[in-house]
Amino acid sequence: MEQYEREAVEAVTTRPPHPYNTLAIERITPVIGAEVSGVDLSKELSAEQREEVGIAFRDYHVLVFRDQSLTPEDHMRFAGSFGELRPVDPPPPEGDPHILEIRTTSGAANAAGNGWHADGTADADPSLGSMLYITEIPEPGCGGDTMFANMHLAYEMLSPAMRSLLDPLTAIHDGAQAFQGYTPPEGYVIPRSEHPLIARHPETDRKLVYANKAYTSRIPQVSPQESRALLDMLFDAIACRPVLHCRVRWTPGTLVFWDNRCVQHHAIYDYYPYARYGQRVAINGGPVKG
Ligand code: SIN
Repeated sequence: MEQYEREAVEAVTTRPPHPYNTLAIERITPVIGAEVSGVDLSKELSAEQREEVGIAFRDYHVLVFRDQSLTPEDHMRFAGSFGELRPVDPPPPEGDPHILEIRTTSGAANAAGNGWHADGTADADPSLGSMLYITEIPEPGCGGDTMFANMHLAYEMLSPAMRSLLDPLTAIHDGAQAFQGYTPPEGYVIPRSEHPLIARHPETDRKLVYANKAYTSRIPQVSPQESRALLDMLFDAIACRPVLHCRVRWTPGTLVFWDNRCVQHHAIYDYYPYARYGQRVAINGGPVKG
C-alpha cells in the first residue's frame, strides 16, 4: 500500500471506540460494519438506545441486528426514528407504500441489487439509509450475502493528485440506467440528477466518492472519453479493493441498516435456483452536500 493509503486506513482504525451503555458492538472489519446486540427492535427504543444506535451508524455505516422478530409496523417505526420514511418509487402494486419487497423467486434469472450501487441516487434528494429485514434465505442455508463498501475510504485511498482533480467535479445520476432490460411503469417519470462527484457526509463533513455504477452516467465537466475513464477507474477501485468491503451473511430475522450517503452495496446472486425474501424500508435524505 502507498503511504497515503496506509494513512487513510489508520485514521479509521486508530479512532478510539465509543463507550456504549445499552449496546454491544462487534466490528465486521476494521473499517466498515458492525454487529449490534442488546437491542430488541420489536420494541420502541429508549432515548439512550436510539442515540447509541445513531452513534454506531455514524461510526460503522452498516449495522447488523440479528434474531429479530419484526412486524412491518416495527420495521417502519425503527426506520422512522431516523427520519421521514421514503415512499417506494415506482410505488408497489399493493401493500404499504414504504415497504419494498426484495424477492428472488426460485429459478429467477437475476436478483434485485446484484451490482454495486447506493439506493435512489438519481433522485434530487437521495436516500439517507435503507433497512433490509431478511426472513427467507436460500434453501441450502447459505448464499445471498450482501457486500458493502466504504465510500469515505474509497476517496481517502485515492492519490492526493487524483483527489484534487475530482474534488470540484459533479456527476449525472440517471435512473434510466437502472431500468436497462426492464420497462418502467406507464407514466413513471425517470429521475435524473446532478450531484457533487466528491460529496461530504452531512453529519461528519467527511468526504466520500458519490458515484455508483448503477446510476452514475457522466461527469459533465470533462469529455465523454475522459468521463468514461474516470468513472471506470472509480468503479474498479470500489469493486476490486477488498479493504473497502464488508460482507454480511444473512440469517432469517436479520435486519441490516446501511448509510446510502457513504456506503454502496451489492446483493450477491450466487444462489440460483433458490429463493430469498425480505422487506426494505428506506429513509429520506436531503440534497447531496459538496
Ligand atoms: C438492495 O437494496 O439492493 C437489496 C440488497 C439485498 O438484497 O441484499
